Parts: sequence; structure tokens; C-alpha cells
Amino acid sequence: MSETTTAPAAISRQTSADLLERAKKSIAGGVSSAFRAKSVPFPLYFTHGEGPSITDVDGNTYLDYTLAWGPLILGHSHPAIAAAVEKTLQDGWDYGAQHEGEIRVAERLVELVPCADRVVFSNTGTEADQIAFRLSRAFTGRKRILRFQNHYHGWLEAPPDTLFLPWNDLDVVEKAVAEYPDEIACVILEPILCNGGCILPAEGYLAGLREITAKHGIVLIFDEVITGFRVDLRGAQGLYGITPDLATFGKAVAGGFPLSVIAGRYEIMKLIEDATVLHGGSFNGNPTVLAASEATLEELSRDDGAALKAANSSGEKLIEGIRAAAAEAGVPVTVRGVGTVFKVVFPDEGAVTDSRGLTAPPSGRLGAWLEGMLDNGVYLLPDGRWYVATVHGDDEVEMTLEAARFAMNAVAAKFPAN
Ligand SMILES: Cc1ncc(COP(=O)(O)O)c(C=O)c1O
Repeated sequence: MSETTTAPAAISRQTSADLLERAKKSIAGGVSSAFRAKSVPFPLYFTHGEGPSITDVDGNTYLDYTLAWGPLILGHSHPAIAAAVEKTLQDGWDYGAQHEGEIRVAERLVELVPCADRVVFSNTGTEADQIAFRLSRAFTGRKRILRFQNHYHGWLEAPPDTLFLPWNDLDVVEKAVAEYPDEIACVILEPILCNGGCILPAEGYLAGLREITAKHGIVLIFDEVITGFRVDLRGAQGLYGITPDLATFGKAVAGGFPLSVIAGRYEIMKLIEDATVLHGGSFNGNPTVLAASEATLEELSRDDGAALKAANSSGEKLIEGIRAAAAEAGVPVTVRGVGTVFKVVFPDEGAVTDSRGLTAPPSGRLGAWLEGMLDNGVYLLPDGRWYVATVHGDDEVEMTLEAARFAMNAVAAKFPAN
């Protein structure tokens, strides 16, 4: 093939490879979250990140569309977050007690998020979802959780009486509600199915769920751990104009620091207030992550959410450009999602058989694409998902699409059409 399929010469990742081997002797599996084991060609080690870029231990710098699996909505090392957090390092980073910063962030969240009469803070999305389950069970006096296949709500086990249904089909929800009358405490979903392929809700689906749950006294929970402070300043609930009873947030809400939020209607959140539902945690609401969140929300709220709108528009340009690169190279590709979170799907991608497929790095066209992008300076998640940040502007889009053309040609060379 032409030189456009050739990776730039002499990219070494040897120091990363050596560190991974060393890590495996003391860290089970070598990585700190099982999902990272799938990285292509293997988990890399990094020394620093700045704005849209991240640099590995071998000195290779990449445009980063992993954004630490989503949280870095303002990019790496944003100066406003750094300044806010540096101040807490002088003032004391953890009190295990109250401070005004948590009120300021809560007030901002109540102002922005449609379902938020009250909020509470935790540390991870997994925890936030657990509290949402606990709240809905206590509120309804029912046990069953209704969730959907390929939606991800954290790494803890689902309770035994959980129902798993196909998504985007109101009939199956109606049937389940009829089959288990007065048993279902909550319906939980990713309002945009980011983990299961970046699939948008079908026209009228969210409104239909809202209607069914309201009619049957079921708590509707939007898991906005990915969509929150990403697809829209008000979350997917704001974007689609459907208000759930409870919503959980994580990832982008503190720009890369470990904060999660449970937001909801007062009647339900009151169960925390009157101690019917226990919500605890040593690190909850600590000044460091709250300072990061306050700075993040301040940046995102400016000019009526202009930064997120720009990020979404950069993402739309990337989607169009990747589609064009694929068409030009003759590679069959679908790109699905919205500007700030989308997925490049190849037809030979294996079916998802566990929560995210924890096994080997992807092979086939997806593997070749990821490796081609990495060789051309773009770092992506192993499942083909892209996260776009406010620091991805026109220059980054242009550089990325140039890499995409190289990588699509490399895929075409390796997997010629019949
Ligand atoms: C939709 C969704 N919910 C919950 C979680 C769990 O969040 P965490 O990894 O912070 O526990 C994730 C993580 O990827 C997620 O994507």
C-alpha cells in the first residue's frame, strides 16, 4: 500500500512494557482497574498531561480522547482546577467536617440539574448508584430493581432480584411492570447508552419511561455518571427535557477528582435527612474534590455553557471526519453518539458478553484502528469510545482527522474488502 498506511518510524514503548512487567509482580493483574487491562497494544505508563495531550514514559505525546475514562472535561491539568486544589493543600485537604465549599457546589447543582431539590456527595459513581438503589427501595417499600442489558452502573454485584431487560423498548417495560405489580422499586438507565455502544434513546422512549414509572409509583433513576456535565450543562435530563426522580453524577462533575453526586426530589432525598437511609463515607464532600468541582462547574457554566457547546461541536466535526475517512478508505464503520461521547463501531467487533469484556485487547479492525491511531499520536479507549473535552478545538480536530485518515488506510490494508 501507499506510504499513508505506514506508521511513523521508531515509536518505542519499551519503558511502558518494562514497567508493566514489573507491576505484575506486585499489583494483581498489573493495573488498578480491570478495564484498563484491555488497552492497545498493552497498558501504557504516563508521566504528565497538559490540556488535550498526555505523555508516556517513553516520551511519546498523544492527543488524549480517553480523558481518564471521561472525567477530564476541561482537559489535563486545567489551571483553574489546579489553583483551586492548590489552595486546599495549604488550608487542609480533608476535615471530615463541614465547610462552605460543599454548600456552594450543592447550590450550583440545585440550580443546574432539573431533578435536584437536594444533593449529597460521595466519591465514585458506583457508590452513588448504590445509594440511589437504597433510596428507591426505602421510598417505595419494594425490593426489585429494573435495569437494562449493557447499561453499566458500577462494578458491584446487582442484587438477586434485579430484572435485566432490553433497552429502548417500552413494551417490555410495560410487561415487566404488569408481571411484578407493586414489586419494582426503581428503573435505572443510562439516558444515553454510553457503555453499551453510545446508543441514543429512541424518540419518545425517555418520556414513555417517565410516564410508566410515575403511573406505578416506581422511582426513575437516570445514571448520568457519563452524560452529566458532558452532553449538556443540565445533563441528559436537560437535553431531552425529561426529569427523573433521582440522578447520579460522577466523572466530569469534579473535572478529574473523585466526586460523585446523588441528586433528587425532596420527598426521596428526605429519607437521608431523617436518617431512614444511611449515607456515609469518610471522604464524602472533602474540600479538595469540592474545590475541583467548584472550579469545573464555574468554567462550564460561563457564557451559558459555551465551553460544552464548543466541545460538542468539535466532537460533531470529529464524527463527520471519521465517517469520511472510513468511506474514503473503504472501511465499513458506524459512528454513534453525540459530540462529546461517541463510539466508532466496526462490523467485526465481538459481542459484549460481560460488563465490558474484561479479556484481551481488541483485535480485528478495532484493534488495528486503535493501534493505527496510537502510532499517529491519538490515544483512545479500548472499546472504541471517544470522550471530547473543552480543550479539543479546531487544531486538535484537524490533527486528529489527519491521524484518522492514516489509521483507516492501515485498517483497509490489513482487512481488505472482499
Ligand atoms: C454510567 C456509569 N455509571 C456508573 C459508573 C461507575 O462509576 P465509578 O467508576 O466512578 O465507580 C460508570 C463508570 O464508568 C458509568 O459509566
